[in-house]
Amino acid sequence: MSAHIHSDTPAHPGQPGRPERRTFETDGPGQTARVGRQLATALEPGDTVLVAGDLGAGKTCFIQGICAGLGVGEPVTSPTFTLVNEYDGQPGRVPVAHFDLYRLDSPDAVLELGFDEYADTCVCLVEWGDRFPEIMPSDAITVHIEIGDGTRRMLEITGAGKAVAGLEGAAC
Ligand SMILES: Nc1ncnc2c1ncn2[C@@H]1O[C@H](COP(=O)(O)OP(=O)(O)OP(=O)(O)O)[C@@H](O)[C@H]1O
Ligand SMILES: [Mg+2]
Repeated sequence: MSAHIHSDTPAHPGQPGRPERRTFETDGPGQTARVGRQLATALEPGDTVLVAGDLGAGKTCFIQGICAGLGVGEPVTSPTFTLVNEYDGQPGRVPVAHFDLYRLDSPDAVLELGFDEYADTCVCLVEWGDRFPEIMPSDAITVHIEIGDGTRRMLEITGAGKAVAGLEGAAC
């Protein structure tokens, strides 16, 4: 891919408990989705990805890329009104839950949707994932998308597990 890639902690990839950080600069939705697709390669049930960024930053686009990488066959759209979408795991594929916290006004409202159980059993993907940090798994992967000029976006991905450690990213 042609997105610019940056890694500032390349020395000990995958060490437990040691957060890794990768940054990507993308130009256009295809490149953002491809970063999500790359992240998906090491995601497993029980992993949570919190995606933050302003309206229209590309949170859904990034999650569409993750879902493509996980083999989700159905359309992936922001669950803005439904609040959570479940994508059926095909045989041999992982179950995926896709949340949008934009319209939820308290942590309790998120928990009432069954968040904890989804987080334990699915790959759990959360738009506006920075809203209620107090109830999010402490080992969640975080993705922040910053809007740049035109179709440019800056992505910052952090997490201690192998999914982030394995993201292609030459030190520079
Ligand atoms: N580099 C880029 N990455 C992602 N999206 C981009 C990029 N450049 C332009 N876009 C456009 O930005 C929009 C991103 O929409 P998307 O629905 O993914 O954002 P969102 O953060 O989920 O928004 P919302 O807060 O409404 O849920 C799309 O129209 C997409 O085509
Ligand atoms: Mg969205």
